[in-house]
Amino acid sequence: MRKPMIAGNWKMHKTAGQAVFLVQDLAGLVERVKDVEIVVCPPYIALKSISTIIEMDKLNICLGAQNVYWEEKGAFTGEISPVMLKDLRVDYVIVGHSERRHIFGDTNEIVNKRLKAVLAHDMKPILCVGETQEEREEEKTFDIIKEQIFESLADISSEEMENVVIAYEPVWAIGTGLTATPEQANDATRNIRALVGSLYNPEIAMITRILYGGSVKPDNIAELMDEPDIDGALVGGASLDAQSFAKIIKYQEIGE
Ligand code: PGA
Repeated sequence: MRKPMIAGNWKMHKTAGQAVFLVQDLAGLVERVKDVEIVVCPPYIALKSISTIIEMDKLNICLGAQNVYWEEKGAFTGEISPVMLKDLRVDYVIVGHSERRHIFGDTNEIVNKRLKAVLAHDMKPILCVGETQEEREEEKTFDIIKEQIFESLADISSEEMENVVIAYEPVWAIGTGLTATPEQANDATRNIRALVGSLYNPEIAMITRILYGGSVKPDNIAELMDEPDIDGALVGGASLDAQSFAKIIKYQEIGE
């Protein structure tokens, strides 16, 4: 069984102090949640304090980073290495987010390097893929996703693949308020599962968690999670508020 995952990507929001308050507020709202894996991905500068809170208070929250450099150490001004993240007990690292790809020029080859570095240091990558509006209009969605999946997962063994989470995030739905319909999202996640099956085997495809991301909110999470190939969500804007993020995490209670 694939355990659902709800991950919050706080992007470049919150000072270290604000991030601590947010995780504390969230923790109080979700303390009884057991059947959903909760992940918060604050900016680097908040990782240490949140890691300490998670450990001291034994929170049911995992820690994620938003990016990583692939070398362990050296003259790479401004970068953060996988060794540094592992030292802070980071569990997950987002790689290939569309903002990294489009603003900072991350190619599939770079994403592959980051992903390998994460796995080599016993952390789990959340690999983001997704098409732009233009690519969707030109009916290139499937080809783009295929290329992103194949190239980003180059040289990853099936054993390593068991630790990879994939997030389908159509670029046109990120931060725009436009959500893919549950059917559109499930079409893409089903395709991704088939691609993983063709690269590895059906068992790996069955256990790989595939999230949806792009304007996920408390009022659309339940219908997205109803889809058979959507195993969770990567949430941006709505994860910046403890109440709305907690509602998304507790999607099973919506409508009860
Ligand atoms: P959004 O961001 O929920 O604000 O659309 C999603 C993401 O970028 O992961």
